[in-house]
Amino acid sequence: MKSQDYIYLKENYYKKPKQQFFFIKNNILKIKKKGKLLDLGCAKGEFIFFLEKYLKYFDYFTGIDYSKNLIAEAKRKNKSKNINFLVKNAENFKLNKKYDIIIIAGLISYFDDPLKLINCSIRHLNKNGYIFIMDKFNENNVDLIVKYRNNKISKKFAKGWNFHSIQTIDNIFLKKRLKNPLKPKNDPGRSFKIKTNYGNYFANGFNQYFNLTLLVYKK
Ligand SMILES: C[S@@+](CC[C@H](N)C(=O)[O-])C[C@H]1O[C@@H](n2cnc3c(N)ncnc32)[C@H](O)[C@@H]1O
Repeated sequence: MKSQDYIYLKENYYKKPKQQFFFIKNNILKIKKKGKLLDLGCAKGEFIFFLEKYLKYFDYFTGIDYSKNLIAEAKRKNKSKNINFLVKNAENFKLNKKYDIIIIAGLISYFDDPLKLINCSIRHLNKNGYIFIMDKFNENNVDLIVKYRNNKISKKFAKGWNFHSIQTIDNIFLKKRLKNPLKPKNDPGRSFKIKTNYGNYFANGFNQYFNLTLLVYKK
């Protein structure tokens, strides 16, 4: 049992997909790539089931997670012969296939040093293939390594909240001659509203997350 299985076994994005699923899917559609897709840290396979509906022209999907419980659940839900789920570590897996798109969503923040994960992914990438990484990143050149322990649940420290600097990730890819083809966002100071369980909050391109407070003083 992996320490965070209790979180991902309880979640259910089969019927109500996460917002980020739509975002990544739309970007895959933009680059008009087809072929085989690999999802690393796929949890219960929700994203692959979601993608299969939209990417009909893809011929094969593989999901990898190191949690036996999550992969068992993904396999139980899988009805398609074009989808395969495997229990493997994303840092050192070996497959005899190469892929046209590799998704690393919510996973890179588990690694203090993402070098092995990235190198292993590149080894499984076809020529002209793409790696999509979605996570929390630091836009400044600072790597933040976080461990946390939910004392109600566990005696061990868990991972998943590192904020790597985008520069650190870019440098690893540049050494292998892979470049980020997306232009940086302009005007990062613009704020947008996000709905949370605690009400509406605001976020912006500086990675700030905040609420607005109205201060009123009376004489
Ligand atoms: C935050 S969840 C992200 C799930 C999904 N990719 C998404 O974006 O909704 C992280 C997943 O990565 C898995 N994971 C963590 N470390 C891993 C590793 N070394 N190898 C494979 N999977 C790992 C966890 O079991 C968990 O399912």
